Amino acid sequence: MSDVLKNRRILLIIGGGIAAYKSLELIRRLRDQGASVRCVLTQAGAEFVTPLSLGTLSGDKVYTDLFDLTDTATIGHIELSRDADLLVVVPATADLLAKMSAGLAGDLATTLLIATDKPVLVAPAMNVCMWTHRATQRNVEQLMADGIHFVGPNDGDMACGEFGPGRMAEPAEILAAIDAHFSENEFSGNPPLKGRRILVTSGPTHEPIDPVRYLANRSSGKQGHAIATALARMGADVTLVSGPTNLTAPAGVNLKRVETAREMLAACEAALPADVAICAAAVADWRVDIDATQKIKKEAGAATPSLTLVENPDILATISKMKKGRPALVIGFAAETEKVIEHAVAKRARKGCDWIVANDVSPESGVMGGDLNTVHLISDGGQEDWPLLPKQAVAERLARAIAAHFEPKKTKS
Ligand code: C5P
Repeated sequence: MSDVLKNRRILLIIGGGIAAYKSLELIRRLRDQGASVRCVLTQAGAEFVTPLSLGTLSGDKVYTDLFDLTDTATIGHIELSRDADLLVVVPATADLLAKMSAGLAGDLATTLLIATDKPVLVAPAMNVCMWTHRATQRNVEQLMADGIHFVGPNDGDMACGEFGPGRMAEPAEILAAIDAHFSENEFSGNPPLKGRRILVTSGPTHEPIDPVRYLANRSSGKQGHAIATALARMGADVTLVSGPTNLTAPAGVNLKRVETAREMLAACEAALPADVAICAAAVADWRVDIDATQKIKKEAGAATPSLTLVENPDILATISKMKKGRPALVIGFAAETEKVIEHAVAKRARKGCDWIVANDVSPESGVMGGDLNTVHLISDGGQEDWPLLPKQAVAERLARAIAAHFEPKKTKS
């Protein structure tokens, strides 16, 4: 991660939910990056974490009571909310989101949130039904329209035993969102990729067997979408060609949705010329050699159908080997389950791309569909090993490497 968090002042508001314990890890990580953290604990939040643990980790007083702050000897609430570069609500409960959306100010946390002139980032956490409830979704829409920034929630197992959206983003993801927020401001005025056209592929492809069945893979599209987001934030003109995913369209990106590998290739060709092409999609290597316009029926006594597969076009290799109009920089991904570097180096040579981003997707790595990634960047310049990072931070780092690649070389005078 960059050093954009150095000396940033974060006002962390801790709401009342089981995910409050993750705020402790977030404080530690923020401080590791050089940020200062001041905590405000709601009454409900204090049921889950103590002022003592927050105070110890933040190295500052923990604020809990609105009326404490009306004492002229202490800092007032306006000052407390303005003496920060960013307000972060972790976890943002259904109750807190509703109060923020309605503009209520009945306690210190909500008063600060309405009194601030600083940006606010919220990390929602709640039960699936609470998150999907129309009232919460209405509040979320309102808050987004009001300019509140969101990170998460993610799909996952919940403390209540259910599964689905509502699980709070991990501290590493929240940290990446905070980092991204400041990076965005860092680039305002002079974004380093301004004027660069960049094509990104993302997600899986779906290869039909018949009108209701298809072949697919476990790609979530999170890494490709995060790359498109990071590039757009750095000023690039991004076309994101994506197979089917559950992700929302990244802001400021031209999204083309496709289903099959052949549609993806056609959309990529239509998006060229570009300065850079990044193929992060998990394109199906094969499609079914079939032209079933009706659902294949399971008839009693009939033989089990067999599927004949034919090879799909290789989008990365096609772009890398273009004779005319090849992007100046073509980047591929190599998701491997063993001998990661060896296979990635061979893949780079075989496909003809300039850089390859290699990662371990063996089932035990937990990467496929997850939020974290450990990658190695392989180029003519050698191999860079990056630490375990949230996918957004991998994206940010890759975008910075691309910007540095295009930076005019400084000549010695
Ligand atoms: O050969 P393999 O699928 O492992 O190669 C991975 C890289 O090639 C990724 O960058 C992926 O986006 C790209 N690829 C492609 N078209 C295919 C297969 C892979 O662009 N048909």
